[in-house]
Amino acid sequence: MDSLDLLNPYLFRHNGKFFFIKEGLNPKDLDDLLDLDVRPTDIYLASYPKSGTTWMQQILLKIVDAAHPDQVEDGTNRERCPMLEGDTSSSCRRERPDPRLCRTHLPPYMLPHGVQTKGAKVVYVMRNPKDVLVSYYHFSQGLSLMEPPKSFDHFFQDFVEGKVPWGSWFEHVREFYSEKDQMNIHFVMYEDMLKDLRAEVVKLCAFLEKDLTDEAISDVVESSIFKNMKKNPKANYKDLVANERYTKITMRKGVAGDWKNHFTVAQNEYFDRVFTERMSDFPVSFTWDM
Ligand code: A3P
Repeated sequence: MDSLDLLNPYLFRHNGKFFFIKEGLNPKDLDDLLDLDVRPTDIYLASYPKSGTTWMQQILLKIVDAAHPDQVEDGTNRERCPMLEGDTSSSCRRERPDPRLCRTHLPPYMLPHGVQTKGAKVVYVMRNPKDVLVSYYHFSQGLSLMEPPKSFDHFFQDFVEGKVPWGSWFEHVREFYSEKDQMNIHFVMYEDMLKDLRAEVVKLCAFLEKDLTDEAISDVVESSIFKNMKKNPKANYKDLVANERYTKITMRKGVAGDWKNHFTVAQNEYFDRVFTERMSDFPVSFTWDM
């Protein structure tokens, strides 16, 4: 542990790049993931934190359940689509009929090699970074594994500098996008899901090669709407609140543009400058408000 590149008592930097929470994660376990067995049928849900992971998890599970009705498992979404870098003893290596699902916030160079070599399917969710920042701020206030942010201003600066768990949003998004021709990857925008969830579900089914009836697609959409997910104990992560891992609910508002209720004019101007510096050559545009 002495050689850990620590940012503070809670976060360490892996290979000089992204930051991770010290509690429960260590560099060796992360490195071991590179050799994890991958099947071509595996589905990896990847995202930067607070970009809509829980939402996509629900959608993917519902699509897979509808396509494989004889394999529907009991359990929460969290258990059925486990976190790659979470509990490394179960994680994505658990035995179950194909397709196996798992979720991750790791950058692409830390994913198991087999994700690329076996052509596993990767769904990457992106969200406008101002709303990611706000969502992450609220989430961090309730995360028992870390000290809560001293203020919104402090968190704002840490986020811009990538000094938060899983590191820099800018690098995360750029690194995944740069893998678009090497990995079997489908990009989804959080805001596009808000605009037309059904259309995004149809695109996902095509990518996943799951042929669902119109009725089954309607069922996926209905079950994934914010108000329905929020009251579904298998989807809403309330069990983690109950066991004090998070002290705040993770399904907070589920909207686009909440950053306007948090950013000052100066913060917004500063963020726009940083965004232009870091992302002006990025070929994807983000929706800042709806
Ligand atoms: P807010 O904090 O802005 O409400 P993640 O799952 O990656 O941690 O992202 C969490 C964010 O996704 C939270 O955003 C949460 O409310 C939002 N979210 C979860 N389910 C959603 C849904 N069905 N529709 C819209 N947003 C959803």
